[in-house]
Amino acid sequence: MTSLKWWQTAVFYQIYPRSFADGNGDGIGDFKGMTEKLDYLASLGVDALWLSPHFPSPNWDCGYDISDYQSVAPEYGTLEEFKLFLAEAHRRNLRVILDLVLNHTSDEHPWFLESRSSRDNPKADWYVWADTPPNNWQSCFDGEAWTYVPERDQYYYHFFMKQQPDLNWHNPQVKEAMWDAVRFWLDLGVDGYRLDAIGTIFEDPDLTPHNVPMTLAELRRSTELAKTPEEKERIGEYWKEMFQNQLDRPGVHDVMKELRSIIDGYDNDRMLIGEDENIDYLGSGADELHLVFNFPLMRTKVITPAHIRSNQQERLPKLEALSAQQGWPCNTLGNHDCSRIYTCFGNKLHDAELARLHAALVLTLKGTPFLYNGEEIGMTDYMLTDISQVKDTMGSWYYHAIVTDMGVHPEEAMVRTAEMTRDKNRTPMQWSNKPNAGFSPDEVRTWLPVNPNYKEGINVYEQDQNPDSLLNYYRHLLRIRKGSSALKEGEYIPLHETAENYFAFLRVSDEQKVLVVLNFSEERLELDFSKTENVSEKKLQTLFSSAVRSHTEPVIEKLTITPFEVFIAELV
Ligand code: GLC
Repeated sequence: MTSLKWWQTAVFYQIYPRSFADGNGDGIGDFKGMTEKLDYLASLGVDALWLSPHFPSPNWDCGYDISDYQSVAPEYGTLEEFKLFLAEAHRRNLRVILDLVLNHTSDEHPWFLESRSSRDNPKADWYVWADTPPNNWQSCFDGEAWTYVPERDQYYYHFFMKQQPDLNWHNPQVKEAMWDAVRFWLDLGVDGYRLDAIGTIFEDPDLTPHNVPMTLAELRRSTELAKTPEEKERIGEYWKEMFQNQLDRPGVHDVMKELRSIIDGYDNDRMLIGEDENIDYLGSGADELHLVFNFPLMRTKVITPAHIRSNQQERLPKLEALSAQQGWPCNTLGNHDCSRIYTCFGNKLHDAELARLHAALVLTLKGTPFLYNGEEIGMTDYMLTDISQVKDTMGSWYYHAIVTDMGVHPEEAMVRTAEMTRDKNRTPMQWSNKPNAGFSPDEVRTWLPVNPNYKEGINVYEQDQNPDSLLNYYRHLLRIRKGSSALKEGEYIPLHETAENYFAFLRVSDEQKVLVVLNFSEERLELDFSKTENVSEKKLQTLFSSAVRSHTEPVIEKLTITPFEVFIAELV
């Protein structure tokens, strides 16, 4: 075995605290609930948990607007309950990383309250202020990026909602205050951080305006209405152009380096993963982040073998160019910001089969997999039907913008809002077939409605009993992965690279060589790997298959793969 770090071989599982488990029966997830579910997570076979923000927040952006970086949101519990959760997770060998929001705070954070109070208070320069809106920049959530404050007779900048003012990272005091918060949780024993929206930390110092002839709401609306490929392409360009001066400034690297040196001062290999796909944020491989997400893998309408191959071909050489083992991939297909895998990568005909293929893809590609809570039981998007249910305020902002300013009919506006809001993929975890999916007691109104499809077998309790369920499929696959040095550490070698229907590849470690075939089609395949480059072995020993296979060992010259099969075998 090579000496990879824990975060290279671990499977991460993202918990969205508000929706994961309601331990005190108030309709909102909490630490009591999360602690009670640790045995479930251990039984699933994941190794590490990423918690979306658990800090006090007015919840304009569902916890990503933090009003105190060093305590626990009262609805989630107390600091003591957090410590218990962490200790109990560690006792089960589950690592825990937290969400760290660097770019902005809540507008109710005491730092901002002080900063906004006058032009000459000690924190006057902790945020980004201007006498007049210096340009036409937009916030990516709610229109104008500059918001007026009468006390200062000035405007502050916010890349996200107006309730999320951007910190001024040029100010060393801001850094120190944030690093105190970082140390606070590291001192308590957390294993690292997922860094929120790092690309937004700095803006173009020349404040260059964008030249898109639209506001944010208009651009969103045009995106919905675009029909021809040309229109779609133009709109795609507009999205890039609109924010290009507000993102990815070089200064971010210095911030990452400072943070890395803090992390490296701790024992137990604490780690950092950036919410960004840019491999440059790994720095030299040893001085910035440990991981960035392979978001381009999920940025497609359909996951095809060709898409996967070109994605790997594009990323792996760049990662491998960093010094040994320090450019490590990290794959995911879903999180709290996007449509659920089951919904967006399904095709309405073979959703169940495709969900299994997609899970296998993330769990067999080279790199650290990140799963999102609920994926393992096949949770789907849930479309809200009434604006009063919407909790994701970028959704309610958009609804009002198109109804009021553009005269869109409320019914249509609601359909559009339900599609664009992230509430659809944040509904409560479906634990059982009892009312409220067992998330909260029967009579309680949960913070977001529960998806009624919990009654159709999409719940943990029923899937736990059924050996053929998606949940048990995940458990099985996670077990196979854990026992396979090739799947955890091995190099990736694509095979049969022109195949359109299936994706075949090897994972090769010092001890083991594994063949993975993912059949993305309804066709039954007969494949011959005996003459394939890099395959000198003559025999296959099945490690895992999503199909019912006969007991005889598969034959390398004539390997039959059933429709949508996930087939994993050791070459011997
Ligand atoms: C990240 C989070 C998202 C949040 C935004 C602003 O993209 O994942 O949920 O709204 O940052 O903090």
